[in-house]
Amino acid sequence: MKISERQSVHGQWSSRWTFIMAATGAAVGLGNIWKFPYLTGQNGGSAFVLVYIVCVAALGIPLMMAEILLGRRGRSTPIRTMQVLAEETNTTQWWQIIGWSGTLAGMLILSYYSVIGGWTLAYIFKSIGGTFNGASGQFAADTFSAFTGSGTILFIWHTVFMVLTMGVVAGGVQGGLEKAVQFLMPTLFILLVLMVGYSMTTGFFGKGLAFLFTPDFSKLTGASMLSAMGQAFFSLSLGMGTIMIYGSYVPRDTSIASTSVAIALADTGVALLAGMAIFPIVFANNLEPGSGPGLIFQTLPVAFGNMTGGQAFGSLFFILLLIAAWTSSISLIEPLVTWLIETYGMTRIKASLYSGIFTWLLGLGTVWSFNRWAELTFLGLTFFDLLDFVTSNLMLPLGGILIALFVGWLMRADSTKAELNIHNPAIYAAWQALVRYIAPVAVFIVLLNAIGLL
Ligand code: PFF
Repeated sequence: MKISERQSVHGQWSSRWTFIMAATGAAVGLGNIWKFPYLTGQNGGSAFVLVYIVCVAALGIPLMMAEILLGRRGRSTPIRTMQVLAEETNTTQWWQIIGWSGTLAGMLILSYYSVIGGWTLAYIFKSIGGTFNGASGQFAADTFSAFTGSGTILFIWHTVFMVLTMGVVAGGVQGGLEKAVQFLMPTLFILLVLMVGYSMTTGFFGKGLAFLFTPDFSKLTGASMLSAMGQAFFSLSLGMGTIMIYGSYVPRDTSIASTSVAIALADTGVALLAGMAIFPIVFANNLEPGSGPGLIFQTLPVAFGNMTGGQAFGSLFFILLLIAAWTSSISLIEPLVTWLIETYGMTRIKASLYSGIFTWLLGLGTVWSFNRWAELTFLGLTFFDLLDFVTSNLMLPLGGILIALFVGWLMRADSTKAELNIHNPAIYAAWQALVRYIAPVAVFIVLLNAIGLL
């Protein structure tokens, strides 16, 4: 069978629209609404935002195109795809490392993502129950620290979130994923716009905007640049094979370039909206922008608690955030599950069960890093911080370099041209220059700079 006719054994999206929704669903998640604002706050605001946007445009979009094309050509799990494509290009099977490292990164990320997904779940119930009615900044902060201080409570919510995730994964592409991704993403978008509207009434909207968008390069350090680049990879779900595996379900007539641009725009739009909604509330309530992973859980309840209809609005917001987290968590574990199916001939249900149990166990480290193990640090990082640093700032960017090198240098131009189907030679040449030179060099420089070697 010709490579261009290969079909994925794991399924196919029913249309280009479903793929866009699924990939946007995978991209838009806690990374945009929970992580982007707190990293921005910790890294001093606008300079971080600017580096992040540059990374999305210059590295994210070309690499997303590269990953989708690898996936659609290989039509399999990231590990198997790289094996097939290494054969096709007559190079060493060592390139499978892209698939292995991505599969591992997905599992590691899901282990802590599920804990934060659990926080979201708990906050739905707190909002519905009216906990935040009339809440002050202090009250929201105290509620949050009491909540994360309890290992048992976090354990329970982490478990519930993991069950929800693996339940959908066990259903498969057609049954589970498609249905899960098709609804409510647009509603989340609208709700965020309404939140920004609320922030405009706080009197601190201008200050929030200035914090996000008035460049202040004095705040830019090697570490913050690495963090912005890592966040671009994390937020777009790049460098780890998720997009590759979603790409493997993409119909042949879908334009990879325009789809990638659409996904990146939607993803960045959601992150910026989240920032614009949150920082005015932070400043209006004298909260600390650099307070870390609890930022949205400490700020948004104050807004919900003090606006008309806030109880309903807040509940709806956390429900939608849960859905955004859910559609991302599904994609994080998909490479491992499909690999187990492919390698050991397991049923999807069994593969989901094994992957789920293992990831859940690992997640306990994150659960306890907020309470029991909070003092247990390595290089100043808790278990959660360390997992996050290693995956977002090292594994994903390194995976991205390898993908760029493979696609840019080893795949034949006629294969990449055939997959991308770009008719304008200048656009193809620009893409090729980005994946061949700019992306690998830029990632490398940022990494060296961050460890103080530049
Ligand atoms: N992009 C997701 C988010 O922003 O929440 C997280 C994520 C999903 C990262 C899938 C990586 C991935 F493969």
